[in-house]
Amino acid sequence: MNLYKAINRRRSIRNYGETGLSKTQLDEIEKSVNESRELFSGVSVDAYLVRDGQSLQQDISGIIADYGKVEAPHYLVLTSEDTQKGFVETGYRYEFIVLALAAQEVGTCWIGKGFRDEELSRHVQIPRDQTCTTLIALGPLPAGDNLHEIEDPKRKELSHFLINGDPNCFDEATLKIVDCLRRSPSSLNSQPWRVVLEHGAIHLYLRKRNKITRMVLKDMDRMNQVDAGIGLCHLEVGGRHCWDGAEIKKTPHPEKKGLVYIGSLKGQDRG
Ligand SMILES: Cc1cc2nc3c(=O)[nH]c(=O)nc-3n(C[C@H](O)[C@H](O)[C@H](O)COP(=O)(O)O)c2cc1C
Repeated sequence: MNLYKAINRRRSIRNYGETGLSKTQLDEIEKSVNESRELFSGVSVDAYLVRDGQSLQQDISGIIADYGKVEAPHYLVLTSEDTQKGFVETGYRYEFIVLALAAQEVGTCWIGKGFRDEELSRHVQIPRDQTCTTLIALGPLPAGDNLHEIEDPKRKELSHFLINGDPNCFDEATLKIVDCLRRSPSSLNSQPWRVVLEHGAIHLYLRKRNKITRMVLKDMDRMNQVDAGIGLCHLEVGGRHCWDGAEIKKTPHPEKKGLVYIGSLKGQDRG
């Protein structure tokens, strides 16, 4: 299964099969994590595979996370520099891993951080210039479960994400790419993405919170940066499939009040 198809099948998995993944599968995941694709060069980001998920759960009080308990056989601990770029990079890089795992019918769930870095000390040595941003729980699906195509995901309508207009004014391929974005996972299913469509480009923005909300909801703000990176990954996968090639870039873009620009999908040979 390719990554495009995986977008339509992926969902967050919160219950896992009793036996974990095989050593070969885990070795493969570890290898792909270390070879993950880069969005911004020079941003300090890492991921560590914790094979014994149970022992991690015992050490981390907040793995119950922001909501809902997720007990998985394995985890990826994601770390980055404590900057907006670091959080966006984390979402972008590791959502490719999430989709690649979904393509192999391996379940995953992003988990917002609800614990201190020190609680991870038995499992991961976090570089001095980094902090743990999020976890990704992973493991086999429970017996009898599978990742089937989701026709109607729990998301807002496509038009909600478009700043300039009516979906009827855009071609089908472009709308399919926006649908890939819409299907991205996001913290608390907040779906904070907005897009401006231009010929051959999709510009991605995040809703801007005011300063007080940003301070009060600091963690939420950080998680939304991760959501933004995840959104860029889905745009890229959609663009490569539906536009015969596309890449993520920072490009000239319209300024939009109340929105922060994140990056653009630029189609090859499209304007
Ligand atoms: C950055 C981030 C943090 C998340 N944190 C949690 C979490 O702590 N607990 C949880 O159960 N789900 C968590 N999720 C999963 C979201 O709730 C989920 O993606 C969203 O509800 C959409 O559902 P879906 O992934 O099944 O499409 C998180 C997702 C993201 C992207």
